Amino acid sequence: MTMIVTGGAGFIGSNFIFYILQTHPDYRIVCLDKLTYAGNLSTLAPVMEKDNFRFVKEDICDREAVYRLFEEERPEVVVNFAAETHVDRSIEDPSIFLQTNVLGVQVMMDACRKYGIKRYHQVSTDEVYGDLPLDRPDLLFTEDTPLHTSSPYSSSKAGADLLAMAYHRTYGLPVTISRCSNNYGPYQFPEKLIPLMIANALADKPLPVYGQGLNVRDWLYVEDHCKAIDLILQKGCVGEVYNVGGHNEMRNIDIVKLICAELGKPESLITYVTDRKGHDLRYAIDPAKIYKELGWLPETCFAEGIKKTIRWYLDNRSWWEEIGSGEYQKYYERMYGNR
Ligand code: NAD
Ligand code: TYD
Repeated sequence: MTMIVTGGAGFIGSNFIFYILQTHPDYRIVCLDKLTYAGNLSTLAPVMEKDNFRFVKEDICDREAVYRLFEEERPEVVVNFAAETHVDRSIEDPSIFLQTNVLGVQVMMDACRKYGIKRYHQVSTDEVYGDLPLDRPDLLFTEDTPLHTSSPYSSSKAGADLLAMAYHRTYGLPVTISRCSNNYGPYQFPEKLIPLMIANALADKPLPVYGQGLNVRDWLYVEDHCKAIDLILQKGCVGEVYNVGGHNEMRNIDIVKLICAELGKPESLITYVTDRKGHDLRYAIDPAKIYKELGWLPETCFAEGIKKTIRWYLDNRSWWEEIGSGEYQKYYERMYGNR
């Protein structure tokens, strides 16, 4: 079985590749990644030499290159992780988000139509549902919640979801979609909340909390997300959307305080900064469908997952310290310099 995994040099894609190569050693994985600022080839070093793994540096928007790869590999399954993923960057400049997250998805699905495929899986996000009020803990996102996006990032992901469903209905493309909550774990780029706070705390730098830190996210350990996608590929029904989440809602400020406590750093590092524009208040997934239909349940609780994650960042300093130099410094200065 040959599977193309796009965006496999990024956070979730790389964890997915490791998971699949371990649990399905008979699969062949072809990773297609443009290696943007968020992609890191060194992450894939442990699998690079495997006979059943191939890395190809290409852009999912490059139709010719994508068709060529399909011609060579004739994949049966495509899992699309490739995307621009950082909300703050999408607020700065939406263009590349529409390019990769919408038009790139069109190219990938056109290739699937042209060459035939058993499954195209679109990795989406709970952010397509917009946000929920802080004072209504009874409300959760189900697969029937209307799409109601807030940021250019979430709008581009919603656009991709709609297009994927249109390709299913119009052309009969065997599509599935997963909409997952916030992931955390090894290899997450340090522009996102948890790795950014770990890296700053270790350097005794200010911990920039947006607004009052009261926004709520539903956190899931990355390996649980990978398991959910694998299950959807094996047992999911085409044309269906599956919400993936851990029933683990946390306020940002509580996460940052927990990181301080785990690292033995003072809470005085916490610095409240200007809020994100259009900042979504709360995300919360109802994962009842994937549990009832596919038997998926998260296996790593937050208390254990955050310890494992912090341990990983302590043990793999060179991975993120390398990223922390150069381009990332300029980004950090731009985003946080006058905040
Ligand atoms: P990431 O930013 O860490 O990695 C994205 C990867 O995609 C990088 O390797 C990058 O080089 C690659 N890429 C970007 N543009 C490309 C292009 N045009 N062609 C080929 N490759 C390209 O992202 P992530 O956090 O691992 O997210 C992966 C997917 O999961 C995304 O689709 C995202 O929307 C979705 N998602 C993420 C989360 C989360 O909490 N991180 C939650 C739910 C869903
Ligand atoms: P992030 O990791 O960017 O994920 P998303 O916006 O996709 O949920 O941010 C998670 C939460 O943390 C979000 O409410 C914004 C907040 N946040 C901060 O308070 N400070 C920061 O420096 C960052 C990056 C995020």
